[in-house]
Amino acid sequence: MATVMTRRLERISASAAVLMFLLNTLNTGRCDEQVPLMLWTSEGISLPGQLPPTAGHIVGRDQLGSYLEKALSVGPRNVLLFLQDKMSIEDFTMYGGAFGNKQDSVFPNLEGALMSSPSPLVLPAVSWPASNAVIGQLQDQLETSPLYMDPETLSQLRLNASSPALLVFRLPYGNGADLMSAKEILSGNDEVIGQVLSIMKTQSVPYIAIYTALRPSREAASLTLETGMGGGRSLLQSRRGHKERERERERQRKIKEKGGDYAPVEFKKGENTCILMWARNLSVSIQRNGRWESHDLTPATFGEGVTPRLHDSSCDQTESRLVLNYEGVLGHRDFKLIFAMSQSHYRVSARRWFTLDAVELVYDGTKAIFNGSRNIYAPAEYSYRCESVSSFQWPVLVPRSSKDPATQWRVSFEDFQIQGFNVTGSEFSYASDCAGFFTPGIWMGLITNLLMVLVLTYGLHMIMQLRTMDRFDDPKGPAISVPQTE
Ligand SMILES: *[C@@H]1O[C@H](CO)[C@@H](O)[C@H](O)[C@H]1NC(C)=O
Ligand SMILES: *[C@@H]1O[C@H](CO)[C@@H](O)[C@H](O)[C@H]1NC(C)=O
Ligand SMILES: *[C@@H]1O[C@H](CO)[C@@H](O)[C@H](O)[C@H]1NC(C)=O
Ligand SMILES: *[C@@H]1O[C@H](CO)[C@@H](O)[C@H](O)[C@H]1NC(C)=O
Repeated sequence: MATVMTRRLERISASAAVLMFLLNTLNTGRCDEQVPLMLWTSEGISLPGQLPPTAGHIVGRDQLGSYLEKALSVGPRNVLLFLQDKMSIEDFTMYGGAFGNKQDSVFPNLEGALMSSPSPLVLPAVSWPASNAVIGQLQDQLETSPLYMDPETLSQLRLNASSPALLVFRLPYGNGADLMSAKEILSGNDEVIGQVLSIMKTQSVPYIAIYTALRPSREAASLTLETGMGGGRSLLQSRRGHKERERERERQRKIKEKGGDYAPVEFKKGENTCILMWARNLSVSIQRNGRWESHDLTPATFGEGVTPRLHDSSCDQTESRLVLNYEGVLGHRDFKLIFAMSQSHYRVSARRWFTLDAVELVYDGTKAIFNGSRNIYAPAEYSYRCESVSSFQWPVLVPRSSKDPATQWRVSFEDFQIQGFNVTGSEFSYASDCAGFFTPGIWMGLITNLLMVLVLTYGLHMIMQLRTMDRFDDPKGPAISVPQTE
């Protein structure tokens, strides 16, 4: 009898523990949508003092703009931007070597640079996605386009103190799958920073350096927690996801009402539509003699009576290519705009994802390629939508390499929506929006949440099954018998 009781008690405390855990994780969600930003100058170059924000203050887009503007208005016009995929202040608290074990720090070069600079500026919390705008803001202020570099190409480049340059170094961040690798990658990134700074030293060109990231990395950290044990954060997110869906419906209705509605470009294979693409504005520009000449492709692509030529387009189970053929674009007789997509199955999330791998411009035998796969993806059965997909301002498309002809081009698609797989009829499926609620992390979270809910339901079920006994053991009376088998 005692064994039955204790077994039940054990079950109750297990479900209580699960409950407590859930409550805890619910409380800690949603407070980490910021990235840090560090700015420093080369030795001997000082900037007018700028007050860092007060503790706990989150720097928004405008304030960030004014910090950068003040620094650039008097500082050197050569800017090094170290743009890491992800970063959060926790990366520094975890790997920065605090409490007297400085030798464990993975950022010796960064610390050295910040210490030796006369005017370092550390913004611990820049709201995200304001941090995404850094590259656009720098570009506007320097009036030059970014050059994507690595240390080798930098050593071949002759910089000139009197002509502005924006050199961007993309740095990776671990996929969050294990913490050990995050540490190693950060350490590798610090090494790259060290190399770049020592090359700059040999060139003796004064510079401003900025180290920041495109996204917070804490998402990745909480993701590892979620995939391990399920988490409250994505419960909240899924509710927000629902709101997003409502907003999407609202948006599509508004577009229809405005009458500014035109059909998407539709590529058919046989009878079936297999690619859909829509945009409010498609434009490309090229740099000639230091000026950007732009061409609006929208009127030749969409609208009443316009049939874009799609020959050479293709689609199958795993790859889709939408080829838009134009004539006379910016002096090029034949001009193609190509969207290359692929889809594959990912084991971690147990679903198929499609990515827009590249946007290509083909003209007069030249091919300019922008990579997109890092940023542009959606579950394969959905469409991808984004307010703005461009290669500047908030770039999600980046030239394949620093020597690619794409570095002379800019592409910009507004209110862009594309679907290359699982198209049914000639309408888009529900859109996965680039605003970020449907990142892979969240989809994975949704799956683990399902597990979580099952565990919780089981726990509650066990609690409800508990009944007080109707008879109690009386030492004086005859013993009651309780069957030992359940
Ligand atoms: C730097 O550029 C300026 C003007 O663009 C030029 O006069 C000067 O010679 C250049 N300096 C070097 C070292 O190339
Ligand atoms: C598309 O964008 C370009 C550049 O921003 C602009 O010049 C053009 O007028 C826009 N076209 C439409 C149809 O809004
Ligand atoms: C673009 O993609 C190609 C092939 O996938 C890769 O080799 C290249 O490094 C990528 N470039 C950038 C800037 O991500
Ligand atoms: C999407 O397409 C793939 C391959 O064509 C197919 O196996 C899958 O069942 C489709 N999924 C949906 C949700 O229609």
